Amino acid sequence: MRTLLIAGNWKLNPTSTEAAAALAEGVKNGLGSATDVHVALAPPFVFLTKVDQVLEGSPIGLAAQDIYWEPNGAFTGEISGPMLVDVGCTHVIIGHSERRHGMGETNAQVNAKLKAALAAKLIPIVCIGETKDERLAEKTEEVLLEQLTGSLAGLSAEEAAGVVLAYEPVWAIGTGLTATPEQAQAVHAHIRSWLSQVFGEATAARVVVQYGGSVKADNAVQLLGCPDIDGALVGGASLKAADFLAIIKAGQEVTARGKS
Ligand code: PGA
Repeated sequence: MRTLLIAGNWKLNPTSTEAAAALAEGVKNGLGSATDVHVALAPPFVFLTKVDQVLEGSPIGLAAQDIYWEPNGAFTGEISGPMLVDVGCTHVIIGHSERRHGMGETNAQVNAKLKAALAAKLIPIVCIGETKDERLAEKTEEVLLEQLTGSLAGLSAEEAAGVVLAYEPVWAIGTGLTATPEQAQAVHAHIRSWLSQVFGEATAARVVVQYGGSVKADNAVQLLGCPDIDGALVGGASLKAADFLAIIKAGQEVTARGKS
């Protein structure tokens, strides 16, 4: 069975090293040494070193929120895979909708970043998801197909097996609207069937596919209980340790119960 991955995407929060350290400390203390669910925190770049220090001795992974595809050179403002590894990162979020839609990031760029992450031996969390207009126009599957094909282009089955996908319907991010477990499960099953067609059934069975978009303590058990939902990428509710820990607890409950 796939181990659930609950990741906290802090986005452009908090605004001080002290607050970042306190948040990481709270999650670390609450989780203890539990490894039944995988947990990762994604602070802003400037807090990675501090959060890595705080998380020492804990099973919590450290994720960056972005990566550049070149390892070094004249690329002002960018951060590379080797740099992220150097400051203790284990994971990296790639192609978040706030970057795709807010900063115009393309599938080709996401693909280049994904390859850079794999080259640096970081676990990539590749985000995909449709906008509200695309869903209303019944284009969800078409959009996901384009994002999956473009973002994962050129990967071997072995490489694909190590990728984490995060299905985040754009209309559910930060809006308080959540896909129902049925809606989310249907899309996750579709993603897994695409993975199976392209990389084979055995690989598809290994890929962790998270759901993201207004995941909270009160909807986490239902979402995480779906057979093809293997974790959560959490934004707003990851900014308070207690809220995030409640989602982790939901994951632990679902894991203890076992999925169908
Ligand atoms: P949200 O964000 O939980 O605040 O909706 C999720 C995300 O953007 O990853």
